[in-house]
Amino acid sequence: MKAWDEMEAAERRARERRMAEHGETLDQLAAEGIDLDPEGTIAGIGPGTHRHGDLEHASDHTHPHAHSEPGERPVTGIVGAGPVGLALGVALSRAGWPVRAVASRDPGRRARFREHVPSVRAFVEANALVDDVELVILAVPDDAVAPLAETLRLYAGQAIIHTSGLLGAEALAPAMAAGTQAGAFHPLVAFADLDLALAALHGATIAIEGDDDLVAHLADMAEAIGGSPVRLAPGAKASYHAAAVLSAGGVVALLDTIREVASALGLDEAGAMGIYLPLVEQTIANARILGIDAALTGPATRGDAGTVAAHLAALDAAAPDALPVYRALLARDLAVATRRGALSPEATERLRTALAGQP
Ligand SMILES: NC(=O)c1ccc[n+]([C@@H]2O[C@H](COP(=O)([O-])OP(=O)(O)OC[C@H]3O[C@@H](n4cnc5c(N)ncnc54)[C@H](OP(=O)(O)O)[C@@H]3O)[C@@H](O)[C@H]2O)c1
Repeated sequence: MKAWDEMEAAERRARERRMAEHGETLDQLAAEGIDLDPEGTIAGIGPGTHRHGDLEHASDHTHPHAHSEPGERPVTGIVGAGPVGLALGVALSRAGWPVRAVASRDPGRRARFREHVPSVRAFVEANALVDDVELVILAVPDDAVAPLAETLRLYAGQAIIHTSGLLGAEALAPAMAAGTQAGAFHPLVAFADLDLALAALHGATIAIEGDDDLVAHLADMAEAIGGSPVRLAPGAKASYHAAAVLSAGGVVALLDTIREVASALGLDEAGAMGIYLPLVEQTIANARILGIDAALTGPATRGDAGTVAAHLAALDAAAPDALPVYRALLARDLAVATRRGALSPEATERLRTALAGQP
């Protein structure tokens, strides 16, 4: 078993080698204010001496990870400066949350993060950031969460969370040690644009997960950025996330289908959205006010099988990729119309036959 100091030295050498391969020397990074191996402590926060809880590294050692005073918000670092990491960093720091560090492998993303959150220390490696904070937020793709957690070692008293809507806190198990906590913090927001996402965080649902102590901090964090924290029932996360993906990507897929069909009329995207988005928005408003069943309009509510057959023929000729989408959505409309009692059994059957027929 390697001593802790030897492991740190080996990690440092490996980092330096990788930096050299990327053409970024430590001096250059230091000149940019990027700390790969911070020696000091954050102003106002003293160094701590802990025993690392992981048995494999169970030796007493001093390390500089930051400490908040009891009752204060935990000193926080964000790994990943993509859309979610950046927006959370900006929202939290604007709310006065102590965001002190970011780790990003990309120089452009590091610079952009520091422009928006000047108080942070920027790191290339997630491991270096861990020493500087109490709460580590992994804002990386779902598939990267567990592999990244494998490379991290938390100290007693620290916590780690990810922002995935699908994964549970157990994905972070490899980083855990005695006395550490893991959780999740998933804002139900489409992070397509920084300013729009910051606005959307106000009033957004934020699914949080973790031990009671950590969850209290996460609820505070959600409320600090204007969100509404919710705790999901165990095992519900995949369904919760599937509905979220339909709400965001599913709607984009529908809009893209509308765009494709409208191109047969000679409309470009702006033209198509100009005339069809108001109808989409009106339908959403109707569903909000009247409920989903009452918001349904169109041939499925009237039993207009001939209209459906004409649509299938038109799509087959002009936008064949839209056909399976149209069929799937109309089949769902048919189920809604039947549930609503809008159709006779004969009309339901006529529509079903039309939808199944060849265009
Ligand atoms: N996008 C959304 O609307 C949304 C909404 C709610 C929740 N989420 C969740 O939030 C998380 C991040 O989403 P995102 O859209 O910001 O993701 P992303 O843009 O795909 O990635 C975010 C950052 O992760 C880092 N990264 C990528 N691959 C990595 C790897 N193999 N190892 C370490 N770091 C890696 C990259 O940071 P650097 O290159 O800077 O190091 C990248 O900028 C995901 O779990 C996602 O499910 C997303």
